[in-house]
Amino acid sequence: MKRTGWRRVVIEKPFGNDLKSAVELDSLVGEVFDERQVFRIDHYLGKHMVQNLLVFRFANAIFEPLWNRNYIDNVRITVAESLTVEDRGSYYNESGVVRDMVQNHLLQLLTLVAMEPPNNADSESLRNKKVEVLQAIRRHDGFEMAQNAVRGQYRGYVAENGVPEGSITPTYAALRLDVDNWRWRDVPFYLRTGKAMAEKTSEIVIEFQKPPHSMFPFTFGEEIPSNFLRITLQPNEGIHLGFQTKTPDTDMGSMERTNLEFHYRSAFRDLSIPEDYERLLQDALLGDASLFIRNDHIEEAWKIVDPLIEAWTEADTSPLHIYEPGSWGPAAADELLARDGREWLRRD
Ligand code: BG6
Repeated sequence: MKRTGWRRVVIEKPFGNDLKSAVELDSLVGEVFDERQVFRIDHYLGKHMVQNLLVFRFANAIFEPLWNRNYIDNVRITVAESLTVEDRGSYYNESGVVRDMVQNHLLQLLTLVAMEPPNNADSESLRNKKVEVLQAIRRHDGFEMAQNAVRGQYRGYVAENGVPEGSITPTYAALRLDVDNWRWRDVPFYLRTGKAMAEKTSEIVIEFQKPPHSMFPFTFGEEIPSNFLRITLQPNEGIHLGFQTKTPDTDMGSMERTNLEFHYRSAFRDLSIPEDYERLLQDALLGDASLFIRNDHIEEAWKIVDPLIEAWTEADTSPLHIYEPGSWGPAAADELLARDGREWLRRD
């Protein structure tokens, strides 16, 4: 009988809960399906602005010459959620913030910011470049990872349904990662994410280096702030380019930070942005795996975070900071950047 049609499987995370279990899961799946039939979903890749990152970087020639260690000072990725764990306490308590958000969504965003331009948009070219970024992330043992990270738990978490008394599962993480390659050496990537935070927002801030010299008559010690690109993934998808502007009718040294702004919802009338899963499931039906995760990506991602998860399972490797619901997380996360002379986000 002539064989027609195709078989594909779409798999939702979690893909294992550490490297070992991910490899085992993969070999089970591999007994039944070829890799090209397997579509592993990370719904962040279904977000319109996440896809737009590729267009922004690789369909515009003006940013690429700046997109490296010569001009960029640091990259900050924030995925803040205002919701608590709600009724998912028993799942969440086993998972924690690193497995739930960092290993997948935040590392996805990092790879899209840091990847080299692929030669074309076919799924293998694109995914090769992303995996190369993960391979270049500096590996640390658990102790070193914990030195470069902050864990938090929102006040009241232990009273949630399904959460055992005395749980030390973190609901917030902030960490510094370094991408050791020609483009990014010495440019820190700071990641933070948490539940029960002040607002729901996901954004990537690319902070450029400060002007090397000021000709303006500043008071001693003052510096001209750096330019930044703020890419808002949600809500109100858009891009802001921050730069200094002379304050009208004042002397030269008086300036303000201003923004060039683009927002999808005002730029495109009658815009209807599909749900994250709509686009991804359609791609799976069409057999386009570009926005799905390859097994080697998953394994590299676990190799990066496993030591941190292990370190945080030991109660005394670093403090578990309790933060207030509705806040921006523990103050220690500000200190993590302050020790490098940096800060998370200026809301301007
Ligand atoms: C899921 C996590 O993968 O992503 C949830 O399991 C989290 O805990 C969710 O709330 C966040 O997704 P979004 O699209 O609302 O940012």
